[in-house]
Amino acid sequence: MQYGHFDDAAREYVITTPRTPYPWINYLGSQDFFSLLSHLGGGYSFYRDARMRRLTRYRYNNVPTDTGGRYLYVNDGGDVWSPTWLPVQADLDFYEARHGMGYSVITGARGGVEVSTTYFVPLGVNAELQRVRVTNLGDTARSITLFSFVEFALWNAYDDQTNYQRNLSIGEVEIEPSTPCGGSAIYHRTEYRERRNHYAVFGVNLPAAGFDTDRETFLGGPWAGFADAAVPRSGRSADSVASGWYPIGSHSVDLDLAPGEARDLVLVLGYLENPQDAKWADDAHQVVNKTGAHDLLARFATADAADAALAELKDHWTELLSTYTVTSPDEKLDRMVNIWNQYQCMVTFNMSRSASYFETGIGRGMGFRDSNQDLLGFVHLVPERARERIIDIASTQFPDGSAYHQYQPLTKRGNNDIGSGFNDDPLWLVAGVAAYLKETGDDSILDEPVPFDNEPGSEVPLWEHLVRSFGFVRAHLGPHGLPLIGRADWNDCLNLNCFSAEPGEPFQTTENKAGGSAESVFIAAQFVLYGGEYAAIARRRGLAEVADAAEADVAAMRAAVLDHGWDGEWFLRAYDYFGNPVGTGADTEGRIWIEPQGFAVMAGVGVGAGPDDTSAPAVRALDAVGDLLGSPHGLVLQYPAYTTYRIELGEVSTYPPGYKENGGVFCHNNPWVIIAETVVGRGERAFDYYRRITPAYREEISDVHRLEPYVYAQMIAGKQAVRAGEAKNSWLTGTAAWNFVAVSQYLLGVRPDYDGLVVDPQLGPAVPSFTVTRKLRGATYVVTVTNSGAPGSRASLVVDGSPVGGNLVPYAPAGSVVRIEATL
Ligand code: GLC
Ligand code: GLC
Repeated sequence: MQYGHFDDAAREYVITTPRTPYPWINYLGSQDFFSLLSHLGGGYSFYRDARMRRLTRYRYNNVPTDTGGRYLYVNDGGDVWSPTWLPVQADLDFYEARHGMGYSVITGARGGVEVSTTYFVPLGVNAELQRVRVTNLGDTARSITLFSFVEFALWNAYDDQTNYQRNLSIGEVEIEPSTPCGGSAIYHRTEYRERRNHYAVFGVNLPAAGFDTDRETFLGGPWAGFADAAVPRSGRSADSVASGWYPIGSHSVDLDLAPGEARDLVLVLGYLENPQDAKWADDAHQVVNKTGAHDLLARFATADAADAALAELKDHWTELLSTYTVTSPDEKLDRMVNIWNQYQCMVTFNMSRSASYFETGIGRGMGFRDSNQDLLGFVHLVPERARERIIDIASTQFPDGSAYHQYQPLTKRGNNDIGSGFNDDPLWLVAGVAAYLKETGDDSILDEPVPFDNEPGSEVPLWEHLVRSFGFVRAHLGPHGLPLIGRADWNDCLNLNCFSAEPGEPFQTTENKAGGSAESVFIAAQFVLYGGEYAAIARRRGLAEVADAAEADVAAMRAAVLDHGWDGEWFLRAYDYFGNPVGTGADTEGRIWIEPQGFAVMAGVGVGAGPDDTSAPAVRALDAVGDLLGSPHGLVLQYPAYTTYRIELGEVSTYPPGYKENGGVFCHNNPWVIIAETVVGRGERAFDYYRRITPAYREEISDVHRLEPYVYAQMIAGKQAVRAGEAKNSWLTGTAAWNFVAVSQYLLGVRPDYDGLVVDPQLGPAVPSFTVTRKLRGATYVVTVTNSGAPGSRASLVVDGSPVGGNLVPYAPAGSVVRIEATL
């Protein structure tokens, strides 16, 4: 069952009923000011840091689920309704929500009045706009009153939800019923009198009939919910002034509409900062200096100005998405590659794992591991921002090559609560840097001075950070010559040195078994893959000895994986604290795990003579993956799921079977297997796995999947779960970057390398022909593929009319257009 459809020409998903199985959201904002917006108007806004600079309030884990947002109420001769359906839930004659690239349009109509609102954050502007059009669809004149609504959060989102003994006495606002820009505005200035120099403005470009800033007055009492709100029902604003308690912003606008007439208005929710010496407009320090807000309101004083800013935003996305496009007979493939997967990569780059409908924005900072992987799917969109991010991440590394697991976006400093000890972290930096180098050819980044632990004076060239990353893993090997795991590796829930019996104890940071020598086959495979990249970068820097030594270490690791990390039919997952193998056929549960199979084969470990070489460990391991981990909803993380708590394994065995890391389809690592299948030349299987988890292919089972059909979720409940096929934790997941890598670079097979563009499509017979257009380093490559889909077949290339050997097309000068015909 579907709840809407894709509109690819507009690059929108169109939701046609408010009653989706879960709020389906979009993100507004590109750089500093962000909003989450559900198809029902729910969500919130923040400036840079979802915890420290929260503008509006949202209630997680509430009943109903989607509580709090920017709402409109219509009072049409006593009939009160909301064009986003929530909060009033009055039946609508028409409802539609269109989520697009950085904007959404939500339209509701009732009783012959239509209200259509476009929500977006203009480029370079620290504000969310609501560009509203009210249309009288009927043939009689109408007089309606429209009420806006936002609820302010008291800036620190954690405090806002916990510290009521203080919070209920600190709320402060200022009101300008008539601004110098012609409209009306409400200012949220809680804590501005003391240490804050920022305030929020909520303005409307028309003169308001009235305003409200006190929540209790607006709702009508402490027992009333948003649906009951008394002021909209009364038809008149109460002109209430918040003091302490709960500050809100609401304007009312009276609109007289002739038959067929439409009226436009613009609502602006903005974030402003003042210099310390210009905080006040008066000597007594009672009135906020509102110059910045007035400039903002003046800039968007007309609907035309808002429309122009929206057009600019759309052009910006047209440009961004032109870097990689595909045209194929498979429209689902095209829409994921050309639109939604890249869009999600931008969102994960911006948000890391901070703010979604599953992440509260107060918990996690930027992950060292996560942010490096996010780069893999983002670097082609805005390489300059990727460069900056790499420097930020590397600046949190320790001199021994280990790393803070997370850092805070506002301060960019490492997070002491979580600390270090996740031994896969260091090598992800190599992955991020290698992707950046291949995309841009900008070797200068390697000479950029970068500190350790943000300590001034400790700067060394970025290259040296890679040396330390590689060196850390190399220096921390266990008895089988495999890397020590520390607190966890990519799998946060494989906690081999934490034997936790205390409820509530963190599994990752309670590392309570000292002297352990638990080893990770995953990190071993990661070392083979990214150690190889490290050696390649060293060689390019003219460091032949470093490269030779690294290659020898990689060869030793490769041998260790085959000697000690091989179970007979597949790769082992780890050795636990006691030296017992994890992920072995000798066990009853958790017999086979996905991560080492995908990563080892990606790294080329045990690859034999081709797809049919069933003596090759790589082929055998991938066959076992298909047989044991396969399900219609994707590949589960491990199988069979644990049914009892295994204290020596940790959090992985705490989830009910089939959820999360305990045998859920963890969509982040399915693309490793997809890529691995292309490595052994089995494109058909690779593309099949891709389609099982990719949202556009799951749209028709939206009632089962439940989350947005346009973006990946972190997890789909696995085959042993009670609710198999049900997705959770959409948007902020490494799944976005990895699937874009898998589909764009390995299935469609167009990927940048150091010296040229590799063309190596592997997706089986389902897509017999397609064209990829790739902009890279100033040139444009048009790759036309004719695809037999035969297993093991590799493309032969004709470049600008001349056949070439191999699959590498050397980089062409900026400005040139290179035409490549690839035939398989
Ligand atoms: C989450 C974390 C990521 C981790 C994964 C597997 O997605 O953000 O860092 O690798 O879970 O545990
Ligand atoms: C929990 C989750 C895992 C996530 C981690 C982040 O362990 O199960 O998915 O990566 O928390 O800290």
